[in-house]
Amino acid sequence: MRAEDAPLIRLEDYRPSDWLIDTVDLDIALDERETRVRSLLGLRPNPGGQAGAPLVLDGDELTLANVKLDGVALGAGAYSVTPQGLIIHAPPQRGFTLTVETVVNPSANTKLMGLYRSSNAYCTQCEADGFRRITYFLDRPDVMSVYTVRLEARKAEAPVLLSNGNRVATGDVIGSDRHFAVWHDPHPKPAYLFALVGGALDHVREDYVTAEGNKVELAVYVEPGKAGRAGWALDSLVRCMRWDERVFGRNYDLDVFNVVAVSDFNMGAMENKGLNIFNDKYVLADPQTATDGDYASIEAIIAHEYFHNWTGNRITCRDWFQLCLKEGLTVFRDQEFSSDERSRPVKRIADVRTLRATQFSEDAGPLAHPVRPRAYKEINNFYTPTVYEKGAEVIRMLKVLIGADAFKRGMDLYFERCDGTAATIEEFLACFAESSGQDLSHFARWYEQAGTPTITASGRYDAAAQTYTLDLAQSTPPTPGQPEKLPVVLPVALGLVGKGGDLPLHTGSNAYAGNGVIVLDRPSLSVTFSDVAEPPIPSLLRGFSAPARLELDLGDADLLKLFSTDSDSFNRWQALQSVATRALVETGSGASNRVWLMGKARELAAALDLFLREQAAADPAFAAQVLRLPAPADIAREIGRDVDPERIHAAHRSLSAEIGNALAARLATLREALAESGPYAPDASAAGQRALRNEALGLIAIGDPDIGARLAQLQFAGADNLTDRLAALAAMTLIPGAAREELIARFAERYASEPLVLDKWLMAQALIAEPGTLDRVKELMRHPAFSLGNPNRVRALIGGFAANLTQFNRADGAGYSFVADIVIALDRTNPQVASRLLGSFRAWRMLEPGRRALAQSALAMVSNMPNLSRDVADIAERALA
Ligand code: ARG
Ligand code: ZN
Repeated sequence: MRAEDAPLIRLEDYRPSDWLIDTVDLDIALDERETRVRSLLGLRPNPGGQAGAPLVLDGDELTLANVKLDGVALGAGAYSVTPQGLIIHAPPQRGFTLTVETVVNPSANTKLMGLYRSSNAYCTQCEADGFRRITYFLDRPDVMSVYTVRLEARKAEAPVLLSNGNRVATGDVIGSDRHFAVWHDPHPKPAYLFALVGGALDHVREDYVTAEGNKVELAVYVEPGKAGRAGWALDSLVRCMRWDERVFGRNYDLDVFNVVAVSDFNMGAMENKGLNIFNDKYVLADPQTATDGDYASIEAIIAHEYFHNWTGNRITCRDWFQLCLKEGLTVFRDQEFSSDERSRPVKRIADVRTLRATQFSEDAGPLAHPVRPRAYKEINNFYTPTVYEKGAEVIRMLKVLIGADAFKRGMDLYFERCDGTAATIEEFLACFAESSGQDLSHFARWYEQAGTPTITASGRYDAAAQTYTLDLAQSTPPTPGQPEKLPVVLPVALGLVGKGGDLPLHTGSNAYAGNGVIVLDRPSLSVTFSDVAEPPIPSLLRGFSAPARLELDLGDADLLKLFSTDSDSFNRWQALQSVATRALVETGSGASNRVWLMGKARELAAALDLFLREQAAADPAFAAQVLRLPAPADIAREIGRDVDPERIHAAHRSLSAEIGNALAARLATLREALAESGPYAPDASAAGQRALRNEALGLIAIGDPDIGARLAQLQFAGADNLTDRLAALAAMTLIPGAAREELIARFAERYASEPLVLDKWLMAQALIAEPGTLDRVKELMRHPAFSLGNPNRVRALIGGFAANLTQFNRADGAGYSFVADIVIALDRTNPQVASRLLGSFRAWRMLEPGRRALAQSALAMVSNMPNLSRDVADIAERALA
């Protein structure tokens, strides 16, 4: 496929389906190579569609065995089979049934879309368009049907048979070694939410009673022998179910809720109705094989998929352009859940780091697109940080703008009004316009316009008049297909910080919404505050109230004051990050030299020293975030053009080393004070202590490699959990030499039979910022732990390498051609994983000319390959445009 050849699907071309499918009866006989799928569809013309239209069913890589209409075999002329589907030329213009039998080969399905095998189990992934790889269907989210599914398999091979909804029958197939289970899902659903699982699986379970009093059987299924690692996922499930009842008033609506972990999975997890299927990385946890970060992501993703039951399943999307309707909203919901379970400011800081690293960089490059794209060639390429993370930011802003009460009423209205429908962003926003009485038409631009706005701010104090005037302006740089940008609605949460804390905000300006929020909804505006008794320092965009860049003319001295005194924790963290970022941008772009940078390092170290001494113990998780400087990739993005990765890396390293040295004694004392007391517990407070201890270890290791190596080795030997062992390994990777190689080898021995842990080991090595890394990665591809067939392995080793700023962007271009070659090889088996990996090139245009040219030719090499998948062809085409 050439990308030019794939049809462009446009939002404006949406038309309702000509046909509806009210009921689906599936009878699936599972077999490793020849799975037979008999599907009985109850069809009728859609009153909202076009009368007399043929029935065009989607299909992909299917073998058709036979097709009957109202039970009668169709003659050869009555239908056609194409590579894209099955067409019934002149269907009756009334309700009728269609019986279609197809044969699929799950063992040959390396794309991991549709029905496939993972570690001897059968499983499915149907979002966005995998159901058509199981049977012919109207594979679009606005066609919703009631499913009854009979699964049959050899008893020994698949003692567990699961599908959506409630189990209504089970039994043996008389006279054979096979058995069956029948599942019925009373809730009409689109095909992308269909799922089945069959295999020999262990499980843990728990009974749950909803707030409304309904009993639900919860279970988490895992590979045999791994039930001991499923407890945290189950515990997280119970907690998020309670939370959704309490905070959003949402109860679960079936008798069963199953989660299944599989080891081959293209993405994180999938919210199939009543049967969530997960990448096992986001289910399995025990202290020896999962880090604190893993515990937190499991909790978040279990919640995310569970929350989809209302935001995604009960209310689904009319078409795939509305993907953010379910994803942005559900990310918002899972972020809120994690904030309530853990520390809200720390969660916010972590989310903003991710947003900037992934979404801001997407927005700044050739793959930028609006939260609701207008057109696509391959929808699977739009499961992006923009749709997910920026989509969540838009909901967060909405809540700030209309207030928590109107937001709650709007959500209630949405659940009531749109339940059971396939909805649009317009319908969603209408609920909040109604609940708040506000006109949200301007706000809706967030869904249409791509790009990260920059807010420019400056302030003036008038001592005589006792006023403070803030001038705010916004602009958004052009993105592909959108050269001209219009102003968006930016809620700017702020405070004016005086010597004794926040000053009261008095202003007559109608841009001031109260509650400390200015609404910047035009190119520029000024707000004058009165009765300001002393010159304040403005603290803007508190809590990161809008997904924007802020250019604020504050000196480092004022920022450091905010760092120590701001009442907003996020902005305290941000203030220090801003000082460090400015120093690294100056040096990393060549505008200032190392001597200057060392001066800045001493200023930062002094501020940190005071902070660590006085405040670290009170909130170690927050202190860990403070200690972690912006990453080199953040600095590259800030510089934005003619980027030289080596110079940025060198600056980053010098700054970290100088701070590490200056704080050596303080960090050592701190580490002792934080020494582990009881046995490992994954809770936020214990995790926060480990995070701070391990941030400190990293800084010590950069500052003084000898001491760092000694501490890391001690920690590795003495640790009782993976978090501390992995942190020791990570610290050692910063220190070249025999000791490092020895620790790397010991780690691999210890975890030889733990693929998910070895993924972290692969990634830690792929991230080493040294010229030898490319050869190391090539060598690791031959390690038994690695396989190109498993998405987690590829993301860890090759994805890790592609995230290595200096080595992926080697001056000789070898990093680019290595990754490009792998993209091409992988495209033959798994296009989705291949196209994700190709997305690593998204920032190529901001590089200095030499690297830019090399990256471009690697992209062109991919783009010129014959027979590319639509997934990879689309990314290559857009990246080069
Ligand atoms: N809906 C899933 C989630 O909650 C993502 C599934 C995406 N899969 C895909 N092949 N595009 O995040
Ligand atoms: Zn989701």
